[in-house]
Amino acid sequence: MYLDHFVLQNYRNLKEIDTQFDPNINIFIGKNAQGKTNLLESIYFLALTRSHRTNSDRELIAFNQEYANLWGKIHKSQLDLDLRVLITKKGKKVWINRVEQSKLSTYVGQLNAILFSPEDLDLIKGAPALRRRFMDQEFGQISQEYLFYASKYRQVLLQRNTYLKRLAKGETKDYIFLDVLSDQLAGIAAEVISRRFEFLKFLSSAASDAYDHISLAGEKLTIAYHPSISGIKSDDSREEIYEKLRANFQKTKDNEIRKATTLSGPHRDDIEFKLDGKNAHLFASQGQQRSIALSVKLAEIQLVHHLTDEYPILLLDDVMSELDHDRQSALLDYIHGKTQTFITTTDLEGISWEIIKQPKIYHIQSGEISLKKEN
Ligand SMILES: Nc1ncnc2c1ncn2[C@@H]1O[C@H](COP(=O)(O)OP(=O)(O)O)[C@@H](O)[C@H]1O
Ligand SMILES: [Mg+2]
Repeated sequence: MYLDHFVLQNYRNLKEIDTQFDPNINIFIGKNAQGKTNLLESIYFLALTRSHRTNSDRELIAFNQEYANLWGKIHKSQLDLDLRVLITKKGKKVWINRVEQSKLSTYVGQLNAILFSPEDLDLIKGAPALRRRFMDQEFGQISQEYLFYASKYRQVLLQRNTYLKRLAKGETKDYIFLDVLSDQLAGIAAEVISRRFEFLKFLSSAASDAYDHISLAGEKLTIAYHPSISGIKSDDSREEIYEKLRANFQKTKDNEIRKATTLSGPHRDDIEFKLDGKNAHLFASQGQQRSIALSVKLAEIQLVHHLTDEYPILLLDDVMSELDHDRQSALLDYIHGKTQTFITTTDLEGISWEIIKQPKIYHIQSGEISLKKEN
Protein backbone atom coordinates (compact mmCIF):
# COMPACT_ATOMS: atom_id res chain seq x y z
CA MET A 1 0.00 0.00 0.00
CA TYR A 2 1.05 3.58 -0.35
CA LEU A 3 -0.05 7.06 0.53
CA ASP A 4 -0.60 8.91 -2.69
CA HIS A 5 -2.32 12.25 -2.26
CA PHE A 6 -2.01 13.87 1.16
CA VAL A 7 -3.77 16.95 2.47
CA LEU A 8 -3.24 18.49 5.88
CA GLN A 9 -4.43 21.55 7.73
CA ASN A 10 -3.40 23.00 11.09
CA TYR A 11 -1.37 20.08 12.34
CA ARG A 12 1.14 21.47 14.88
CA ASN A 13 3.36 23.93 13.01
CA LEU A 14 2.24 22.65 9.60
CA LYS A 15 -0.40 25.00 8.28
CA GLU A 16 -1.33 23.56 4.97
CA ILE A 17 -0.02 20.72 2.86
CA ASP A 18 -1.47 19.38 -0.35
CA THR A 19 0.88 17.08 -2.20
CA GLN A 20 1.27 13.89 -4.14
CA PHE A 21 3.87 11.60 -2.60
CA ASP A 22 6.22 9.31 -4.45
CA PRO A 23 5.20 5.64 -4.20
CA ASN A 24 8.78 4.74 -3.35
CA ILE A 25 10.94 7.22 -1.49
CA ASN A 26 10.17 10.68 -0.13
CA ILE A 27 12.84 12.70 1.61
CA PHE A 28 12.31 15.77 3.78
CA ILE A 29 15.29 17.94 4.44
CA GLY A 30 15.16 20.65 7.06
CA LYS A 31 16.90 22.17 10.03
CA ASN A 32 15.82 21.50 13.58
CA ALA A 33 12.34 22.46 14.72
CA GLN A 34 11.03 23.06 11.18
CA GLY A 35 8.34 20.37 11.30
CA LYS A 36 9.99 17.17 10.06
CA THR A 37 8.86 15.00 12.93
CA ASN A 38 5.47 16.73 12.92
CA LEU A 39 4.98 15.70 9.31
CA LEU A 40 5.82 12.05 9.95
CA GLU A 41 3.70 12.14 13.07
CA SER A 42 0.75 13.43 11.04
CA ILE A 43 1.07 10.53 8.58
CA TYR A 44 1.35 8.14 11.52
CA PHE A 45 -1.75 9.72 13.00
CA LEU A 46 -3.67 9.29 9.76
CA ALA A 47 -2.85 5.58 10.01
CA LEU A 48 -3.27 4.92 13.72
CA THR A 49 -5.36 7.84 15.02
CA ARG A 50 -2.74 8.36 17.67
CA SER A 51 0.59 10.05 18.01
CA HIS A 52 3.79 8.24 18.91
CA ARG A 53 4.85 11.27 20.95
CA THR A 54 1.85 12.25 23.02
CA ASN A 55 -1.42 10.92 24.34
CA SER A 56 -2.99 14.35 24.18
CA ASP A 57 -4.58 14.93 20.78
CA ARG A 58 -5.19 18.58 21.63
CA GLU A 59 -1.46 19.23 21.43
CA LEU A 60 -1.61 18.32 17.75
CA ILE A 61 -3.89 21.17 16.76
CA ALA A 62 -1.86 24.17 15.61
CA PHE A 63 -1.67 26.96 18.15
CA ASN A 64 -4.69 29.28 17.96
CA GLN A 65 -6.65 26.92 15.72
CA GLU A 66 -9.82 24.98 16.45
CA TYR A 67 -9.13 21.79 14.56
CA ALA A 68 -6.56 19.80 12.63
CA ASN A 69 -7.54 17.97 9.49
CA LEU A 70 -5.78 15.07 7.76
CA TRP A 71 -6.80 13.44 4.56
CA GLY A 72 -5.08 10.80 2.46
CA LYS A 73 -5.69 8.76 -0.62
CA ILE A 74 -4.33 5.26 -0.13
CA HIS A 75 -3.52 2.82 -2.89
CA LYS A 76 -3.77 -0.86 -2.08
CA SER A 77 -3.29 -3.71 -4.52
CA GLN A 78 -7.01 -4.41 -4.67
CA LEU A 79 -8.58 -1.04 -3.99
CA ASP A 80 -8.10 2.64 -3.26
CA LEU A 81 -9.15 4.19 -0.02
CA ASP A 82 -9.95 7.65 1.11
CA LEU A 83 -9.08 8.22 4.78
CA ARG A 84 -9.79 11.28 6.85
CA VAL A 85 -9.22 12.30 10.45
CA LEU A 86 -10.54 15.45 12.05
CA ILE A 87 -9.08 16.41 15.43
CA THR A 88 -11.01 18.96 17.44
CA LYS A 89 -10.68 20.03 21.05
CA LYS A 90 -13.64 17.83 21.87
CA GLY A 91 -12.24 14.70 20.25
CA LYS A 92 -11.56 13.12 16.89
CA LYS A 93 -13.67 11.80 14.07
CA VAL A 94 -12.65 9.43 11.28
CA TRP A 95 -13.97 8.66 7.81
CA ILE A 96 -13.34 5.84 5.37
CA ASN A 97 -14.38 6.75 1.82
CA ARG A 98 -16.27 9.71 3.22
CA VAL A 99 -18.34 7.54 5.53
CA GLU A 100 -17.91 8.48 9.16
CA GLN A 101 -16.90 5.53 11.34
CA SER A 102 -18.48 5.32 14.75
CA LYS A 103 -15.63 3.16 16.06
CA LEU A 104 -11.93 3.89 15.71
CA SER A 105 -11.33 0.13 15.60
CA THR A 106 -12.90 -0.16 12.13
CA TYR A 107 -10.60 2.61 10.92
CA VAL A 108 -7.26 1.63 12.45
CA GLY A 109 -5.44 -0.86 10.27
CA GLN A 110 -6.72 0.47 6.93
CA LEU A 111 -3.41 2.22 6.48
CA ASN A 112 -0.48 0.51 8.16
CA ALA A 113 2.56 2.54 9.13
CA ILE A 114 5.78 1.57 10.83
CA LEU A 115 7.73 4.40 12.37
CA PHE A 116 11.38 4.29 13.33
CA SER A 117 12.93 7.12 15.30
CA PRO A 118 15.99 7.43 17.52
CA GLU A 119 13.75 6.96 20.58
CA ASP A 120 13.14 3.41 19.42
CA LEU A 121 16.50 2.51 20.88
CA ASP A 122 14.67 2.67 24.18
CA LEU A 123 12.82 -0.42 23.08
CA ILE A 124 15.86 -2.43 24.02
CA LYS A 125 17.27 -0.57 26.98
CA GLY A 126 14.17 1.18 28.31
CA ALA A 127 11.63 0.09 30.92
CA PRO A 128 9.34 -2.92 30.33
CA ALA A 129 6.34 -0.60 30.00
CA LEU A 130 7.79 0.66 26.70
CA ARG A 131 7.98 -2.85 25.31
CA ARG A 132 4.41 -3.57 26.35
CA ARG A 133 3.32 -0.34 24.71
CA PHE A 134 5.22 -1.40 21.61
CA MET A 135 3.29 -4.68 21.48
CA ASP A 136 -0.07 -3.06 22.10
CA GLN A 137 0.51 -0.40 19.48
CA GLU A 138 1.99 -2.59 16.78
CA PHE A 139 -0.14 -5.68 17.27
CA GLY A 140 -3.20 -3.47 17.63
CA GLN A 141 -2.73 -2.05 14.16
CA ILE A 142 -2.48 -5.45 12.52
CA SER A 143 -5.16 -7.27 14.47
CA GLN A 144 -8.54 -5.85 15.38
CA GLU A 145 -8.96 -8.74 17.80
CA TYR A 146 -5.74 -7.84 19.56
CA LEU A 147 -6.84 -4.20 19.73
CA PHE A 148 -10.16 -5.31 21.22
CA TYR A 149 -8.75 -7.69 23.84
CA ALA A 150 -5.93 -5.37 24.88
CA SER A 151 -8.37 -2.55 25.57
CA LYS A 152 -10.84 -4.92 27.26
CA TYR A 153 -8.00 -6.17 29.42
CA ARG A 154 -7.16 -2.64 30.59
CA GLN A 155 -10.80 -2.09 31.43
CA VAL A 156 -11.30 -5.27 33.50
CA LEU A 157 -7.89 -4.88 35.13
CA LEU A 158 -8.92 -1.46 36.35
CA GLN A 159 -12.18 -2.92 37.64
CA ARG A 160 -10.39 -5.72 39.47
CA ASN A 161 -7.83 -3.34 40.98
CA THR A 162 -10.61 -1.08 42.20
CA TYR A 163 -12.31 -4.07 43.76
CA LEU A 164 -9.09 -5.28 45.39
CA LYS A 165 -8.75 -1.85 46.98
CA ARG A 166 -12.26 -2.09 48.39
CA LEU A 167 -11.50 -5.53 49.80
CA ALA A 168 -8.23 -4.23 51.24
CA LYS A 169 -10.06 -1.40 52.97
CA GLY A 170 -12.71 -3.76 54.26
CA GLU A 171 -15.46 -1.95 52.36
CA THR A 172 -16.77 -5.29 51.15
CA LYS A 173 -16.31 -8.95 52.03
CA ASP A 174 -17.73 -10.42 48.85
CA TYR A 175 -14.86 -12.69 47.77
CA ILE A 176 -17.07 -14.48 45.27
CA PHE A 177 -17.20 -11.35 43.13
CA LEU A 178 -13.42 -11.21 43.16
CA ASP A 179 -13.39 -14.73 41.72
CA VAL A 180 -15.80 -13.63 39.02
CA LEU A 181 -13.52 -10.75 38.07
CA SER A 182 -10.45 -12.99 38.22
CA ASP A 183 -12.00 -15.51 35.85
CA GLN A 184 -13.05 -12.80 33.48
CA LEU A 185 -9.59 -11.23 33.56
CA ALA A 186 -7.92 -14.62 33.03
CA GLY A 187 -10.07 -15.25 29.96
CA ILE A 188 -9.16 -11.92 28.37
CA ALA A 189 -5.50 -12.18 29.43
CA ALA A 190 -5.27 -15.57 27.70
CA GLU A 191 -6.51 -13.95 24.47
CA VAL A 192 -3.87 -11.22 24.77
CA ILE A 193 -0.99 -13.51 25.73
CA SER A 194 -1.66 -16.16 23.10
CA ARG A 195 -1.67 -13.48 20.39
CA ARG A 196 1.51 -11.94 21.74
CA PHE A 197 3.18 -15.35 21.54
CA GLU A 198 1.93 -15.83 18.00
CA PHE A 199 3.03 -12.41 16.72
CA LEU A 200 6.36 -12.47 18.57
CA LYS A 201 7.18 -15.87 17.15
CA PHE A 202 6.84 -14.44 13.68
CA LEU A 203 8.65 -11.22 14.64
CA SER A 204 11.53 -13.12 16.19
CA SER A 205 12.19 -15.10 13.07
CA ALA A 206 11.73 -12.14 10.70
CA ALA A 207 13.90 -9.91 12.91
CA SER A 208 16.57 -12.55 12.91
CA ASP A 209 16.60 -12.54 9.09
CA ALA A 210 16.68 -8.75 8.99
CA TYR A 211 19.50 -8.64 11.53
CA ASP A 212 21.52 -11.04 9.36
CA HIS A 213 21.01 -8.62 6.54
CA ILE A 214 22.01 -5.39 8.24
CA SER A 215 24.59 -6.46 10.77
CA LEU A 216 27.94 -7.61 9.59
CA ALA A 217 29.00 -9.49 12.70
CA GLY A 218 26.66 -12.42 12.26
CA GLU A 219 25.24 -12.86 15.76
CA LYS A 220 21.82 -14.41 15.96
CA LEU A 221 18.98 -12.18 17.13
CA THR A 222 16.01 -13.73 18.92
CA ILE A 223 13.04 -12.25 20.75
CA ALA A 224 11.49 -14.01 23.74
CA TYR A 225 8.27 -13.34 25.59
CA HIS A 226 8.44 -13.42 29.37
CA PRO A 227 5.10 -13.90 31.06
CA SER A 228 4.91 -12.58 34.60
CA ILE A 229 3.26 -15.84 35.61
CA SER A 230 5.67 -18.71 35.66
CA GLY A 231 4.72 -21.92 33.92
CA ILE A 232 3.12 -20.34 30.85
CA LYS A 233 4.90 -21.53 27.72
CA SER A 234 4.88 -20.34 24.15
CA ASP A 235 3.36 -23.57 22.83
CA ASP A 236 0.52 -23.60 25.38
CA SER A 237 -2.98 -23.46 23.94
CA ARG A 238 -5.26 -20.58 24.85
CA GLU A 239 -7.17 -22.89 27.24
CA GLU A 240 -3.95 -23.97 28.96
CA ILE A 241 -2.92 -20.35 29.39
CA TYR A 242 -6.37 -19.55 30.76
CA GLU A 243 -6.21 -22.39 33.31
CA LYS A 244 -2.73 -21.34 34.43
CA LEU A 245 -3.84 -17.75 34.84
CA ARG A 246 -6.90 -18.81 36.85
CA ALA A 247 -4.82 -21.01 39.10
CA ASN A 248 -2.36 -18.18 39.56
CA PHE A 249 -5.06 -15.66 40.52
CA GLN A 250 -6.40 -18.16 43.07
CA LYS A 251 -2.96 -18.64 44.52
CA THR A 252 -2.02 -14.98 44.75
CA LYS A 253 -5.34 -13.38 45.66
CA ASP A 254 -4.62 -13.00 49.40
CA ASN A 255 -1.40 -11.24 48.57
CA GLU A 256 -3.16 -9.15 45.94
CA ILE A 257 -5.80 -8.04 48.42
CA ARG A 258 -3.02 -7.02 50.81
CA LYS A 259 -1.24 -5.07 48.06
CA ALA A 260 -4.58 -3.88 46.64
CA THR A 261 -3.48 -4.51 43.07
CA THR A 262 -3.23 -7.23 40.42
CA LEU A 263 0.32 -8.50 40.64
CA SER A 264 0.67 -10.48 37.43
CA GLY A 265 -0.75 -10.71 33.93
CA PRO A 266 -0.10 -9.14 30.52
CA HIS A 267 0.35 -5.72 32.16
CA ARG A 268 3.44 -7.06 33.92
CA ASP A 269 4.87 -9.20 31.11
CA ASP A 270 7.99 -8.31 29.17
CA ILE A 271 9.92 -9.16 26.05
CA GLU A 272 13.61 -9.80 25.81
CA PHE A 273 15.93 -9.25 22.87
CA LYS A 274 18.87 -11.61 22.74
CA LEU A 275 22.03 -11.80 20.68
CA ASP A 276 23.41 -15.31 20.58
CA GLY A 277 21.22 -16.05 23.58
CA LYS A 278 22.55 -13.17 25.67
CA ASN A 279 20.31 -10.35 26.90
CA ALA A 280 20.88 -7.41 24.56
CA HIS A 281 19.76 -4.94 27.20
CA LEU A 282 22.79 -5.86 29.27
CA PHE A 283 25.37 -6.91 26.74
CA ALA A 284 24.77 -5.28 23.36
CA SER A 285 26.79 -2.27 22.26
CA GLN A 286 25.08 0.93 21.14
CA GLY A 287 25.63 -0.07 17.51
CA GLN A 288 24.20 -3.54 18.08
CA GLN A 289 21.17 -2.10 19.85
CA ARG A 290 20.59 0.21 16.91
CA SER A 291 20.75 -2.74 14.53
CA ILE A 292 18.34 -4.70 16.73
CA ALA A 293 15.83 -1.84 16.84
CA LEU A 294 16.03 -1.46 13.08
CA SER A 295 15.67 -5.22 12.57
CA VAL A 296 12.54 -5.25 14.71
CA LYS A 297 11.03 -2.49 12.58
CA LEU A 298 11.89 -4.36 9.40
CA ALA A 299 10.39 -7.50 10.90
CA GLU A 300 7.19 -5.58 11.54
CA ILE A 301 7.01 -4.78 7.85
CA GLN A 302 7.11 -8.51 7.17
CA LEU A 303 4.53 -9.18 9.86
CA VAL A 304 2.09 -6.67 8.36
CA HIS A 305 2.67 -8.21 4.95
CA HIS A 306 2.22 -11.71 6.32
CA LEU A 307 -1.14 -10.82 7.87
CA THR A 308 -2.59 -8.40 5.33
CA ASP A 309 -0.81 -9.18 2.06
CA GLU A 310 0.19 -5.52 1.86
CA TYR A 311 3.40 -3.78 2.77
CA PRO A 312 2.97 -0.95 5.27
CA ILE A 313 4.50 2.46 4.75
CA LEU A 314 7.74 3.16 6.57
CA LEU A 315 8.52 6.40 8.38
CA LEU A 316 12.20 6.95 9.17
CA ASP A 317 12.59 9.96 11.41
CA ASP A 318 16.17 11.17 11.65
CA VAL A 319 17.62 7.70 11.62
CA MET A 320 19.36 7.48 8.26
CA SER A 321 22.27 9.66 9.23
CA GLU A 322 22.73 7.54 12.34
CA LEU A 323 23.38 4.48 10.25
CA ASP A 324 26.69 3.96 8.53
CA HIS A 325 26.85 3.53 4.77
CA ASP A 326 26.67 -0.25 4.86
CA ARG A 327 23.62 -0.29 7.11
CA GLN A 328 21.88 2.37 5.02
CA SER A 329 22.38 0.40 1.88
CA ALA A 330 21.36 -2.87 3.58
CA LEU A 331 18.21 -1.14 4.79
CA LEU A 332 17.27 0.31 1.43
CA ASP A 333 18.08 -2.92 -0.26
CA TYR A 334 15.80 -4.72 2.18
CA ILE A 335 12.80 -2.47 1.60
CA HIS A 336 13.48 -1.65 -2.02
CA GLY A 337 10.43 -1.63 -4.22
CA LYS A 338 8.18 -2.95 -1.45
CA THR A 339 7.69 -0.21 1.04
CA GLN A 340 6.84 3.41 0.47
CA THR A 341 9.31 5.23 2.66
CA PHE A 342 9.41 8.69 4.21
CA ILE A 343 12.81 9.84 5.37
CA THR A 344 13.61 12.97 7.34
CA THR A 345 17.07 14.37 7.74
CA THR A 346 18.82 17.57 8.74
CA ASP A 347 21.98 16.61 7.13
CA LEU A 348 22.48 15.88 3.47
CA GLU A 349 25.98 14.74 4.21
CA GLY A 350 24.94 11.71 6.23
CA ILE A 351 22.99 10.08 3.44
CA SER A 352 24.44 7.83 0.80
CA TRP A 353 22.58 9.33 -2.14
CA GLU A 354 23.90 6.92 -4.70
CA ILE A 355 21.90 4.10 -3.14
CA ILE A 356 18.61 6.03 -3.14
CA LYS A 357 17.12 5.85 -6.57
CA GLN A 358 15.07 8.81 -7.78
CA PRO A 359 13.50 9.96 -4.54
CA LYS A 360 11.06 12.82 -4.32
CA ILE A 361 12.86 15.46 -2.30
CA TYR A 362 11.18 18.16 -0.26
CA HIS A 363 12.57 20.99 1.78
CA ILE A 364 10.81 21.79 4.97
CA GLN A 365 11.06 25.16 6.64
CA SER A 366 8.85 26.77 9.28
CA GLY A 367 6.19 24.16 8.68
CA GLU A 368 6.06 24.61 4.92
CA ILE A 369 7.18 22.02 2.45
CA SER A 370 8.45 22.72 -1.03
CA LEU A 371 9.58 20.37 -3.73
CA LYS A 372 13.21 20.39 -4.63
CA LYS A 373 13.43 20.61 -8.40
CA GLU A 374 16.53 18.68 -9.27
CA ASN A 375 18.48 16.20 -7.23
N1 LIG B 1 0.40 22.59 18.40
C1 LIG B 1 1.42 23.25 17.80
N2 LIG B 1 1.18 24.36 17.09
C2 LIG B 1 2.19 25.03 16.47
N3 LIG B 1 3.48 24.64 16.53
C3 LIG B 1 3.77 23.53 17.23
C4 LIG B 1 2.77 22.78 17.90
N4 LIG B 1 3.36 21.73 18.51
C5 LIG B 1 4.67 21.85 18.23
N5 LIG B 1 4.93 22.90 17.47
C6 LIG B 1 6.23 23.37 16.96
O1 LIG B 1 6.79 22.43 16.09
C7 LIG B 1 8.21 22.61 16.09
C8 LIG B 1 8.92 21.28 16.19
O2 LIG B 1 8.68 20.57 15.05
P1 LIG B 1 9.37 19.15 14.84
O3 LIG B 1 8.61 18.51 13.74
O4 LIG B 1 9.48 18.39 16.10
O5 LIG B 1 10.80 19.60 14.35
P2 LIG B 1 11.93 18.79 13.60
O6 LIG B 1 12.02 19.36 12.22
O7 LIG B 1 13.19 19.08 14.38
O8 LIG B 1 11.58 17.35 13.62
C9 LIG B 1 8.55 23.44 17.29
O9 LIG B 1 8.95 24.71 16.82
C10 LIG B 1 7.25 23.54 18.05
O10 LIG B 1 7.08 24.77 18.70
MG1 LIG C 1 12.48 15.78 14.65
